[in-house]
Amino acid sequence: MISSCTCGREAMDIVDLIQRKRDGKELTSDEIGSFLDAYMGGEVAEYQMSAWLMAAFLKGLTLGETRSLMDAMIASGETLDLSPLGRTVVDKHSTGGVGDKVSLVLGPLVASCGAVFGKMSGRGLGHTGGTVDKLESIPGFRTTLDSGAFISQLQEVALCIAGQSPELVPADDRLYALRDVTATVDSNPLTAASIMSKKVAAGADVVALDVKVGSGAFFRNRGQAAGVAHLMQQLGEARGMQVVILMTSMEQPLGHAVGNAVEVREAIETLGGNGPGDLVELVTALAAELLSRAGLGLDREQAAQKAAACLESGAALEKMEQWIAAQGGDPACVREPEVLALAPVERTLKATTDGFVSSLDALTVGQAVFALGAGRRRRGDPVDHGVGAVVQAKVGDGVAAGQELATVYARSGAAADVAIAALGAAYSFSEERVEPPPVAETGPIC
Ligand code: URA
Repeated sequence: MISSCTCGREAMDIVDLIQRKRDGKELTSDEIGSFLDAYMGGEVAEYQMSAWLMAAFLKGLTLGETRSLMDAMIASGETLDLSPLGRTVVDKHSTGGVGDKVSLVLGPLVASCGAVFGKMSGRGLGHTGGTVDKLESIPGFRTTLDSGAFISQLQEVALCIAGQSPELVPADDRLYALRDVTATVDSNPLTAASIMSKKVAAGADVVALDVKVGSGAFFRNRGQAAGVAHLMQQLGEARGMQVVILMTSMEQPLGHAVGNAVEVREAIETLGGNGPGDLVELVTALAAELLSRAGLGLDREQAAQKAAACLESGAALEKMEQWIAAQGGDPACVREPEVLALAPVERTLKATTDGFVSSLDALTVGQAVFALGAGRRRRGDPVDHGVGAVVQAKVGDGVAAGQELATVYARSGAAADVAIAALGAAYSFSEERVEPPPVAETGPIC
């Protein structure tokens, strides 16, 4: 067993660090930095890091320890220096949800309003989709860019969304994989350090965090979501980043489309001024927060007006075309949706009685689309870009017997039947009128 190492710093007793965390003691920044360095250098075994993570999960980390962990994770790789752009760069991160295509709309929208939007995104895991997978349903679209190409594109187009670079925060890749198999994902400090290390390393000046709460979200509980949100804000600010938090509902899918190509189609419709109300409301709220901090001299209200004008005028849609072309994708998909191919077997779910939709469980919808092949169980698994669902009826909508509620796109009749049954189970109805739930809590929470 490895019990001590030097790791270029003072000799460190690995077992002692695990034991002190197990006993709820606070570790110094140097100790946390040395421990992570030693892990990355192969001097701390996976079982020792697993034990430490479990101790941190059970005993918690102080704010100082969480900041030290984030700093050590950032120092494990490169950081992107966006200062040569001479502009405020804005970014956005979502804690993940069902039908969450916000980045695909927000990026072109704020860039068309004069901001610079640079984002590194993850791939989807489990029932929540990933922006990179969605973008890869556009024929030819490149999501692997080196840092030079990322910065050049920001210079030329003011918009770039690429896959998370493996050179940035490699420690997070290893720690997250370990947390995933040791039941230590669901920890506030570990989650906050993981997310904010990647945001800080990617170099933006301002980040809007869309923290989702509800059945289809990483956080089911509002209290925990608010705790992590506040921690993320403190971590970002400690590194000189402006962090704005919006808490948003993920009880039902966002918009109508859930999948990959089908979500890109909906994002394009939204940029063309024909988006679903909840998606437009959320994107506009996030755009107002980002644009009012982007050095454009706009307050929040002026920023919201500018965003609405760019959606209306077609400027945001043109920016989407320009962006897709810059990343090697086929820009024709913006005017010809069929370029974004959907799976061939189409089935619809119909209402059996008159009434009002009282709930549409986001998790059940996400799992149904996942089972069609739109998501991945393990990193590296392929995803099917063409499968998906469109839930036309949302909470609060009145429906009549025989009316179409939802459509699925599948590779086989059998898969479509399973998905239709699952979507049927996701809906509940009421005879009484139901108010649609609010999309976001009013204003930023922190
Ligand atoms: N997303 C991340 O990137 N990290 C976490 O720890 C949880 C969600």
